[in-house]
Amino acid sequence: MGRVANKVALISGGAMGLGKASAERLAFEGASVVITDIADKEGQAAADQINEEGGKALFIHHDVSQETEWVSVIEQTLAHFGALHILVNNAGIALSGTVLDMSMADYHKQNSINLDGVFLGMKYSIPAIAQSGGGSIINISSVAGIKGAPGLSAYAMTKGGVRLLSKSVARECIEMGNNIRVNSIHPGIIETAIWDKLGGDNVGENRARISEAAESVIPGGKIGQPLDIANGVLFLASEDASYMTGSELVIDHGFTA
Ligand SMILES: NC(=O)c1ccc[n+]([C@@H]2O[C@H](COP(=O)([O-])OP(=O)(O)OC[C@H]3O[C@@H](n4cnc5c(N)ncnc54)[C@H](O)[C@@H]3O)[C@@H](O)[C@H]2O)c1
Repeated sequence: MGRVANKVALISGGAMGLGKASAERLAFEGASVVITDIADKEGQAAADQINEEGGKALFIHHDVSQETEWVSVIEQTLAHFGALHILVNNAGIALSGTVLDMSMADYHKQNSINLDGVFLGMKYSIPAIAQSGGGSIINISSVAGIKGAPGLSAYAMTKGGVRLLSKSVARECIEMGNNIRVNSIHPGIIETAIWDKLGGDNVGENRARISEAAESVIPGGKIGQPLDIANGVLFLASEDASYMTGSELVIDHGFTA
């Protein structure tokens, strides 16, 4: 029996990076997984791979900033798998720029995906999880939700928001008595495509620059891998974390220590 056997999990932004690793980890431990993303080709491929390896996965196209799409995704999840127990609010983007540089259009875009997406995810999944007997919500914040991130101020704003939104909803769920735990995860610097999308067009150069920076700020110089975060997601999703709610799980190799 897997650690999340017979559970149904929805992972937003599950086509690549931390979301894909989390979907694979949960599926390997027995959950049926719904992968949602705007990247259709990669999302479908991620679901196909899990199904080919004997797991159960469904891909649904989904922009987390759109309220009506959340309603539809939850409906499709319940229609396909009959329940929902685990939500991983993972989809996110990082737009760089100081407060002086950033346009209001980018500020709103940053907020609509990273913060509106998490708010809407909880708003529409909580009734479905409650109806399924309870479960676990895991919101992917960042070390930038704990300490300031110059040059990424709007990103840090959204991640700080995710941290306190999670704690507040955790307490609301206790008051509602719905058996739903809510926690946040704070990754440090993890090797995914998010770094390629930061700061310019030359992907190779950006990645090299970021690896160099990470090696200088992380104690021991060790950059994290998606599985490091997926292991935290699995823990919070499982009964091993049954007394944890309103907590923050920092996975950063000492970056914030
Ligand atoms: N990689 C890191 O170092 C790191 C550190 C701290 C926090 N995080 C957070 O982890 C989460 C995952 O990031 P990642 O590093 O795997 O990045 P990634 O770019 O590899 O993956 C992000 C995924 O989200 C999807 N996505 C983007 N906009 C979307 C939208 N509007 N609706 C649905 N899906 C959308 C992308 O298509 C992609 O599949 C993000 O919330 C990010 O802020 C990452």
